[in-house]
Amino acid sequence: MNADVPLQLLGGLTARQFLKDYWQRKPLLVRQAIPDFESPISPDELAGLALEEEVESRLVIEHGEHPWELRRGPFEEDTFSQLPERDWTLLVQAVDQFVPEVAELLEHFQFLPSWRIDDVMISFAAPGGGVGPHYDNYDVFLLQGHGTRRWRIGQMCDSDSPLLAHADLRILADFEQTEEWVLEPGDMLYLPPRLAHYGTAEDGCMTYSVGFRAPSAAEVLTHFTDFLAQFLPDEERYSDAGIAPSSDPHQIQRDSLDRLKALLTEHMSDERLLLTWFGQFMTEPRYPELVAGEEMPLGEFLDAMENGAVLLRNPSARLAWSEIDLGLMLFASGQSRLLSAELRELLKLICSAESLHLANLSEWLSHEDARTLLWELIKQGSLEFAND
Ligand code: SIN
Ligand code: CO
Repeated sequence: MNADVPLQLLGGLTARQFLKDYWQRKPLLVRQAIPDFESPISPDELAGLALEEEVESRLVIEHGEHPWELRRGPFEEDTFSQLPERDWTLLVQAVDQFVPEVAELLEHFQFLPSWRIDDVMISFAAPGGGVGPHYDNYDVFLLQGHGTRRWRIGQMCDSDSPLLAHADLRILADFEQTEEWVLEPGDMLYLPPRLAHYGTAEDGCMTYSVGFRAPSAAEVLTHFTDFLAQFLPDEERYSDAGIAPSSDPHQIQRDSLDRLKALLTEHMSDERLLLTWFGQFMTEPRYPELVAGEEMPLGEFLDAMENGAVLLRNPSARLAWSEIDLGLMLFASGQSRLLSAELRELLKLICSAESLHLANLSEWLSHEDARTLLWELIKQGSLEFAND
């Protein structure tokens, strides 16, 4: 996509300008980011999703004497009829995985790497409802879907920012308001990570949160080193051949630290393994149990394709691809495959096409590695037949 075209979604900024000045840095309010936006799902449908076993949902209820009670879904049918008139919020995660029209919204965000996107959470709040002043460790685009919500933003926070004593919710003890806006349907507020914010519903309202994922430094180090360790034989150890005689046997000398650093650097800078791990980690599905494949003989798969079958990406799958010295890597829902550079266009198609079928795959179905790849992605669950 052209990074220099002004985007309505970004209030007329180009992707390049937004990425340079706002992304991860400062908030941006966009009036009518999606003009005349109509929520593709109703509050009742959202509540319906919160009854489902596989859907992650929460209810935050404000009470006079017990502020901000958190309840976790799935909920019972009668939960919603028993709620008060005001001051509660229902939050449903990853609605994009369950409602295709919500997933389509993500097409507006193609100026960002798709593997950075986590999910589209949708909240419905009764008048006065909100989840309290807080900060998140990730970027979020808050799109007003229905009704109006007042957003207040405040200070930048970190893990030292004081929180209210609350077992389940991270609510800031201090909120230093800097700005305030009332958002109408189609308006959108971008917030960088760690910026305090506080939304309250002016009336019954729905807010879409497009949330991102970024591993913490601690996660990168622990997960990458666990991954690396699988490839390191037990006999490979700290070694000190050629050690200089020491004047005091109890002292750990500088030379030992240098040997240790050399051991770490040698392994930590293996780019193939680093990329393999990163691609796998960033495409780890949010709900791995929803990416269950099906066994199927290769012949049956090819026959189905010849007979007009249509393949779709599993909405719970995550895909990305990359180049390395040896060829290309495809990352699919936490797994990686090394492939030859010939398959570049196929990888792009798998990651981006609305659907895969004879018309856009024909040349690939006769290519051995290509058809094996497609077949394996079905068996793994990242691709599925349209009518399943
Ligand atoms: C909400 O939609 O009510 C909460 C979104 C957020 O503040 O992260
Ligand atoms: Co938030």
